[in-house]
Amino acid sequence: MKPRSRLSYLRYAAFLLAPAAALLWSAAGCEGAEGLLTQVRLVPPREPPAFYSGSLYDAMATRDYSPAELFGPSAARSHSGKLYPVGTYPNAEKCGACHASIHDNWKRTLHARAAIDPWYLKTRELFAAENPRGELALRSCAGCHAPVALMQGEVGLYNKEAESSLEGVGCSFCHTVEDTTGPNGGYVSHPERPRRYRGGGDPLFSGRPGLARRLLMAFPAAHKSDLRPEWMKGLEASKLCRSCHDQVVNGVYVQSVYQEWLASDYARRGVSCQDCHFTPGPAPEEVSGRIVNGYGRKRNIKPHVLTGASTHVGPGSGENVGALRAALGMEVERKGATLTVWVENKHAGHSVPAGAGDLRQLWLEVIGWDAQGNVVFSSGKLDRAGYLDRGAAVFHQVIVDEDGNPLRRHDVWRAASIEEDTRLSPHEKRPLRYDLPVSAATVRVRLLWRDAHADFVSGVLKKDPLSVPVVELKRWSSNGTRVIR
Ligand code: HEC
Ligand code: HEC
Ligand code: HEC
Ligand code: HEC
Ligand code: HEC
Repeated sequence: MKPRSRLSYLRYAAFLLAPAAALLWSAAGCEGAEGLLTQVRLVPPREPPAFYSGSLYDAMATRDYSPAELFGPSAARSHSGKLYPVGTYPNAEKCGACHASIHDNWKRTLHARAAIDPWYLKTRELFAAENPRGELALRSCAGCHAPVALMQGEVGLYNKEAESSLEGVGCSFCHTVEDTTGPNGGYVSHPERPRRYRGGGDPLFSGRPGLARRLLMAFPAAHKSDLRPEWMKGLEASKLCRSCHDQVVNGVYVQSVYQEWLASDYARRGVSCQDCHFTPGPAPEEVSGRIVNGYGRKRNIKPHVLTGASTHVGPGSGENVGALRAALGMEVERKGATLTVWVENKHAGHSVPAGAGDLRQLWLEVIGWDAQGNVVFSSGKLDRAGYLDRGAAVFHQVIVDEDGNPLRRHDVWRAASIEEDTRLSPHEKRPLRYDLPVSAATVRVRLLWRDAHADFVSGVLKKDPLSVPVVELKRWSSNGTRVIR
């Protein structure tokens, strides 16, 4: 796995910083100093164990630490109130042995990459370096990006993540959540719930197909109720999505997908997050298939496709472009000198862009040429370095720190308020007007998307902003042809 080197670097840094950090805490008397994540207070262990060669579990499991000490500042909790040993959560491949097509779909998603996404790891480094609480505070990120590693005590000051814990948001994590409590990783994980089938090797835990596998196939009732509690269906199940897709920092909703959905008519009409996201395409869809390959009759299923909006990662990104394109609408009208462009959120059950609205960029590019082919009007054109001009119509969110400075590095841990929110609400059709010079003979309008703005790409990723793909979602031009995709 590629990011290993970065992780080992962090671990090394943690090793060096551990004594200093421990001193800092005792000096601060364990009180939250700078408003970090005030929603959930950071409680460091009273006696941090000495650096150890085994897992944090070995060092801490036997002692009586409070859940807040083990998992804070994330709101995530374990059923037992303690850490679980490494390897408690069966890997997705185990589930894939029977749920093959669901597994194939999941593997292509951002959930499978949540813990190793290079953009996440870069921002995490920044967070660790800028945060007085150092590595321990990384547990806030892990609650959503690496929940298995968090539950197994592999994140934080004594960082030691097993590769198996870097599966991100996997089958055995989601399907063993026993309850949800709110944003910021608000879930209770109970990985010991699945009962073991005896005889010939357990298919979930040992992976050896044998009598146990045949038993499970013949009598799946226990398996079904263990891995899908009553609430894990329809609208109730969307509370699981809330745990990670609502993020509150210093009282500010820096991500509010669930809240937006809850206020929309989709929630009222009974359309859940999974109805749109676990099926292909932007809108809810009926998909006929089997949840276990080659087993049982075909029925309406949720194939776990996870259509989203990211276009920069993974093999699923092409499908995301299609979903994004279909989810939005654009209409253009030119009357004399006035050009009106309507941009519509047709199918998303929340604002667009959703989630990391401080990072994503959706904008309009309008260019006018005179009869000789000279540019006489321009708005929303990227300059050579990949920056967007200031006057452009952008649909995004601007989060600012205490001094009113925009957070341009996804450094949302400094959030003090949301200064600007120009995202498109569900069903919103927003008109934007442009005054064109009379000389503009030809006009072209494009609705464009990229996963991150130039400041993040150059400042955090240390890359050329133009290396992040700019995706054309819609195009219209005035010289007779009206192309709307
Ligand atoms: C040995 C084969 C096998 C393995 C391995 C397996 N499952 Fe299943 N699973 C089944 C069968 C059989 C069903 C019942 C199918 C049906 O009712 O159509 C099922 C059903 C389910 C259901 C549906 C419950 C419901 O209410 O309908 C879920 C959720 C599930 N499995 C999750 C998992 C997860 C997560 C894993 C890995 C930790 C896993 N399964 C591993 C065979 C397996
Ligand atoms: C982000 C959390 C999450 C992840 C990751 C996840 N699931 Fe699910 N899964 C759910 C939810 C929620 C439902 C219920 C969907 C509904 O009914 O609306 C579900 C439903 C199912 C079902 C029943 C589907 C049906 O149509 O009846 C099976 C089987 C299943 N999951 C297996 C898996 C397997 C195998 C994996 C890994 C390859 C996996 N899940 C990964 C949350 C998750
Ligand atoms: C344990 C936390 C967690 C849970 C639970 C969870 N997600 Fe996610 N989800 C994430 C993270 C983290 C990412 C982004 C990973 C990355 O980009 O590094 C993500 C990404 C996504 C994306 C892709 C976004 C894109 O830009 O393409 C969609 C869509 C999504 N989740 C939907 C859901 C739905 C629907 C549910 C509920 C069934 C759910 N998630 C439950 C943590 C979670
Ligand atoms: C009616 C369909 C629909 C429903 C319901 C819905 N979504 Fe979406 N979602 C979309 C579409 C379409 C997109 C792609 C356009 C976009 O980025 O907003 C999307 C995008 C996303 C993204 C990626 C955003 C980005 O810009 O990277 C996430 C994360 C997400 N949805 C999570 C959720 C969660 C969590 C819920 C439930 C609380 C939910 N969605 C409900 C249709 C839906
Ligand atoms: C409450 C859950 C939660 C917490 C806590 C959280 N994230 Fe995320 N993060 C998400 C979700 C969900 C997404 C996907 C949003 C989307 O696709 O629009 C995401 C996306 C990201 C992205 C963009 C990834 C990409 O490939 O586009 C970065 C970078 C990131 N997070 C970094 C961090 C860091 C660093 C921390 C800790 C300081 C952190 N996150 C804490 C849930 C969380």
